[in-house]
This record gives sequence, C-alpha cells and structure tokens, in this order.
Amino acid sequence: VDPERVRIKTETEMRAFGASLVHTIAAGDTVFLYGELGAGKTTLVRGYLEALGHRGPVRSPTFNLVQIFPTEPPVVHVDLYRVKSHEGLGLEDNLDDHVTFVEWADRAAGLIEQDQAWIIKIEFAAEGRVVIVVPAHAAPHS
Ligand SMILES: Nc1ncnc2c1ncn2[C@@H]1O[C@H](COP(=O)(O)OP(=O)(O)OP(=O)(O)O)[C@@H](O)[C@H]1O
Ligand SMILES: [Mg+2]
Repeated sequence: VDPERVRIKTETEMRAFGASLVHTIAAGDTVFLYGELGAGKTTLVRGYLEALGHRGPVRSPTFNLVQIFPTEPPVVHVDLYRVKSHEGLGLEDNLDDHVTFVEWADRAAGLIEQDQAWIIKIEFAAEGRVVIVVPAHAAPHS
C-alpha cells in the first residue's frame, strides 16, 4: 500500500485532516503518531475528536499520560513523551473497542504488531507540515 502524503499548511487544515479520518479510522484501530515536538500530533487528534462531537479541550496528555473520551467510538489519547514504555498504563484493555492514538509511538513497541497499527508521520516542511499516512495492513481481530 502506498502511503498517502498530504500537505497541511495551517493548524486549521490539520484539524480538518484529523476530522476526515473519522471515515476510515474506527473502533479497534490503533494509530501510532510520529513527529517532533509541536509537529501537530495533538492538533490532528483534536480534529478527530471534534468530528465525533467532542467539545471540551484536547491537550497533550503529558501529565496524566492517558485520556479517555466517551465519544462514539470512544477514544484513548496517550502521550508517551515522559516514559520509556507503554507498559503499566493498561492500554491493552481498551484496544479492541476504542480508537487509540499514541503520541511518541516509538515507546509503544510491543503494544500491537507493527503492521496492525495505522502509522501517521508529521514532518515539518517549508510551508507547514507534510502528513504521511500508512493504513494498518490487517484488522486487529483478523
Ligand atoms: N500546519 C500546521 N499543522 C499543525 N499545527 C500547526 C501548523 N502550523 C502551526 N501549527 C502549530 O503547531 C502547534 C502544534 O502543536 P501540537 O500540540 O499539536 O503538537 P504535538 O505534535 O502534539 O507536540 P507535542 O509532542 O509537544 O505533544 C500548534 O501550536 C499549532 O497551532
Ligand atoms: Mg501532543
């Protein structure tokens, strides 16, 4: 599968791009987000949550590490920046019936098979960002 590459000029476009993912990323999907500090990982997740009707703040969950949103489908948002690994956070328990977004996903090795996660990389570009999306190869339950 060729990855999709999208140029994102502004924060507003990043939210809209995140919102557009509700049509393809569903309950049971896990999304590994890669990108440096300030790349726009949380902004993309915010757009996704707003498209599901969430109306409160969406912050980088740096201090509580994990936030769960009671949307439909429910969403788990994790930021692993301050830890070495996802172990001990209980993420496994929610994978099947939530959408799980993981920031700093290099620390989530072993959470699920690498090719069963969606991979979203956000790179800084001359004007804005470039987002690269690689869909999961297989459904988590197959
Ligand atoms: N094209 C763009 N796409 C996304 N964000 C942008 C863009 N241009 C500017 N920004 C700004 O970049 C910042 C992105 O912050 P965000 O919290 O989403 O990054 P992050 O990747 O989650 O960082 P962290 O690793 O610290 O959690 C916001 O302040 C946003 O307004
Ligand atoms: Mg963030």
